Amino acid sequence: MVYTDKPSSFWIESTPKGQFPPFLPESLPDLRVDVAIVGGGIAGITAAMRLKQAGKTVAVVEADQIGTGVTGHTTAKVTSQHHLIYASLVKDLGEEKAKLYAESNQAAIAQVFQWVQTQNIDCDFSRRTAYVFAEQPEQLTKVKDEVEAAQTVGLPASFTTDLSLPFPVLGAVAFEGQAQFHPRKYLLHLAKMIADEGSYVFEQTRVTSVDEGTPCKIVTERGNLYAQDVLITTNLPILDQGLYFAKAYPRRSYIVAAEISPEQAPDGMYIGTGDSYRSLRTTPEGDRLLLLIGGEGHKVGAVTNTAERFANLEAYGRERFGITDYAYRWSSQDVKSFDNVPYIGKLTPANTHIFVATGFGLWGMSNGTLAGMLLSDLVQGKDNPWADLYDSLRATPFLTSTSLQENLDVGKRWVGDRLKGLTDNSINDVVTGEGKLLTIEGKKVAAYRDDEGQVHAVSATCTHLGCIVNWNNAEKSWDCPCHGARFDCQGKILHGPAVTPLEQIKTS
Ligand SMILES: Cc1cc2nc3c(=O)[nH]c(=O)nc-3n(C[C@H](O)[C@H](O)[C@H](O)COP(=O)(O)OP(=O)(O)OC[C@H]3O[C@@H](n4cnc5c(N)ncnc54)[C@H](O)[C@@H]3O)c2cc1C
Ligand code: FES
Repeated sequence: MVYTDKPSSFWIESTPKGQFPPFLPESLPDLRVDVAIVGGGIAGITAAMRLKQAGKTVAVVEADQIGTGVTGHTTAKVTSQHHLIYASLVKDLGEEKAKLYAESNQAAIAQVFQWVQTQNIDCDFSRRTAYVFAEQPEQLTKVKDEVEAAQTVGLPASFTTDLSLPFPVLGAVAFEGQAQFHPRKYLLHLAKMIADEGSYVFEQTRVTSVDEGTPCKIVTERGNLYAQDVLITTNLPILDQGLYFAKAYPRRSYIVAAEISPEQAPDGMYIGTGDSYRSLRTTPEGDRLLLLIGGEGHKVGAVTNTAERFANLEAYGRERFGITDYAYRWSSQDVKSFDNVPYIGKLTPANTHIFVATGFGLWGMSNGTLAGMLLSDLVQGKDNPWADLYDSLRATPFLTSTSLQENLDVGKRWVGDRLKGLTDNSINDVVTGEGKLLTIEGKKVAAYRDDEGQVHAVSATCTHLGCIVNWNNAEKSWDCPCHGARFDCQGKILHGPAVTPLEQIKTS
């Protein structure tokens, strides 16, 4: 199938838009709450809900709409099975820390379940077994090691060869009692419960900076509000203090969805092994069933022909499930820390009232939920047994081979971007439907020619820290290879950490 439209997420298409007002300082002058939460994804909304339940007043300040960031573009498996992770956590961090990781993620699943039950959240929640399957003998050894490690840390793990997949697999690690849901239905329900009795949820309100103080000042494009404490839950923190952009890296991943008959649909949630693994789950859409196929991950900004990534997933669906028509396709990115453990805690050692949560490693349904739970305890000064494991100020393994390579990549991009010539210099070089980097009168320009032939030109220099953006042909966006900021063809921010749009450039 050839898509003419831009990718769009099933989770967002199937839920109502514009549920909350923007922050209007003229209606709420000098607004002050106990805790301001910047970013309304799963981490921010979970923290806000916990704090509200603890009797705090909160204000969630969301640049776009609740649950339309990464959380609106996920596969939404709610599981402590984070691909193959426990064998390496036991090896790298030791059994005690690996146990805490497992326990905290299982507690996050229990938290989601508890709210779904007690608050009657209609979000297609269902209990499922999660599987990581191996198709190659060398992957089977890793799967067996994972079963052993997961059992050691107390997880409900077992080895199985009994899978409901329509192709042969050698074996899998199964985690019982995991779950899946519709992430935006879940978040919208919670957000509606948050927004009353002196607490607020604001959409379409971008925060540009936060000043620590008594109280803290939250500066938005629309005006300022004030809070005793501030949580930065913007996926990658928008504040540069703490250097989280250098302690983690953004990874993009893709999903296609198509109708599948119930007889043909796999039961459970699956993810493969090896470099070109696929992630599978089903979800109801009215009275039909959709199969989600995910994968094709890469570092943000490193791939221009992203349309090919969707095509590869469709080819997999065709070969493995006989699917020819796809209803949805979308993609997004998440932040990976270099030791595979999220950062949750104070922004920097000098901050006492600003907290962050990031680095969910493409497993934020549980990691983001536990982040919200932990942040809520930290703000209230409560002891939490997970605090040390996730401490945002822990010594970061900057010098692992992965981190060194990622940071070198960023350095190379930054220096290389400056030296490289962006040699084309005429708007005429930009063909219809494509984006191109140009140098015009010494200025680096990112130009896109739409289907009507009109050119949209913006500065090619990312407003975060000055790298040069790259074209993304499926999403028609400009993506920054350094820390993952993304912009549309008019320069509008699609994804942080940038807080300022790309400058628009007039072309004659
Ligand atoms: C393709 C894909 C598949 C995935 N599948 C799974 C899965 O099956 N299971 C799983 O557990 N995890 C999965 N993940 C990971 C999971 O989706 C993420 O870890 C999680 O959604 C991140 O949540 P968040 O709250 O950090 O970010 P977000 O949901 O992005 O929330 C951050 C919010 O902050 C807002 N914001 C940004 N800047 C500002 C600003 N300046 N002012 C105000 N607001 C701002 C954004 O608009 C956004 O709404 C997947 C990720 C991807 C990309
Ligand atoms: S995202 Fe950091 S320089 Fe672009």
